Amino acid sequence: AGVSALLSSAAYADLSGKVIGFSQIGSESGWRAAETSVTKSEAEKLGIDLKFADAQQKQENQIKAIRGFIAQGVAAILVAPVVSTGWEEVLTEAKEANIPVILLDRGIDAPQDLYLTSVASDQVKEGRVAGEWLVGAVGDKECKVVELQGTVGSSPAINRKQGFEEGIAGHANLSIIRSQTGDFTRAKGKEVMEGFLKAEDGGKGICAVYAHNDDMAVGAIQAIKDAGLKPGSDILVVSIDGVPDIFQAMVAGEANATVELTPNMAGPAFAALDAYLTDGTEPEKFIITESKLYTPADDAQGEYDRRKGLGY
Ligand code: AHR
Repeated sequence: AGVSALLSSAAYADLSGKVIGFSQIGSESGWRAAETSVTKSEAEKLGIDLKFADAQQKQENQIKAIRGFIAQGVAAILVAPVVSTGWEEVLTEAKEANIPVILLDRGIDAPQDLYLTSVASDQVKEGRVAGEWLVGAVGDKECKVVELQGTVGSSPAINRKQGFEEGIAGHANLSIIRSQTGDFTRAKGKEVMEGFLKAEDGGKGICAVYAHNDDMAVGAIQAIKDAGLKPGSDILVVSIDGVPDIFQAMVAGEANATVELTPNMAGPAFAALDAYLTDGTEPEKFIITESKLYTPADDAQGEYDRRKGLGY
């Protein structure tokens, strides 16, 4: 109920009673769990019969689920695409069946007429904001950065890497010395960070970790503590998502900055779909959500409490 209170109370007459398929990636992160729960509660509020399919990180499962939705004759399909390539065939099938497809939170490399709209953040900007924050935080000091990348081939992994590199460009005192995927999970983030620490003399040469999501940052924080160093001061921690756990880490002095990604992609998606089904209004092709930077100075405890109150 708390999450629903965030969302618009528009009528959405055309969505009530409609069957809509949602192909979700899985449950790799706290952010992903929040997106799933917001989408379900928003659908419930609007009277939508949401058919939910968890792909367990596999594109082949998403393709199967989308084909199943097409066979059922759903009114629309939401898909959070795990990777950016390989969608053309199945989305063409949806188009031929006249079923609008809306992309949530990740982008794809495919012709734009294969989807109605894409509701996502500017992921390059997220990385750039993180990089620019680090530039400001270290000043003239030499800073060797290790990077925990998201899922290989996913749009946020590709774009957040590019954006961060843009953010630190022109600052020769900052360099990325190691970069590896941690699959957007806490466990893998910890494991990869342990490897980085070992390879860098127990972590002594590392000034900062940049993680493509908060869950990997939380895993890295644990690895840094296990190595006898202080995350947040010996090694700076900057990441993306803005989930409650990273604010808790900020309160403990163990994380330094995060760029918020709203889990409410479904609200704008359903609003766009409603207008489209009502009178054919074409939405913007890209509906871009905000990318706000938070640091411990932004009332980390308050931000933690607020998110918990909203049901994250
Ligand atoms: O696509 C969005 C990303 O996917 C989130 O930042 C990350 O936590 C999730 O796994």
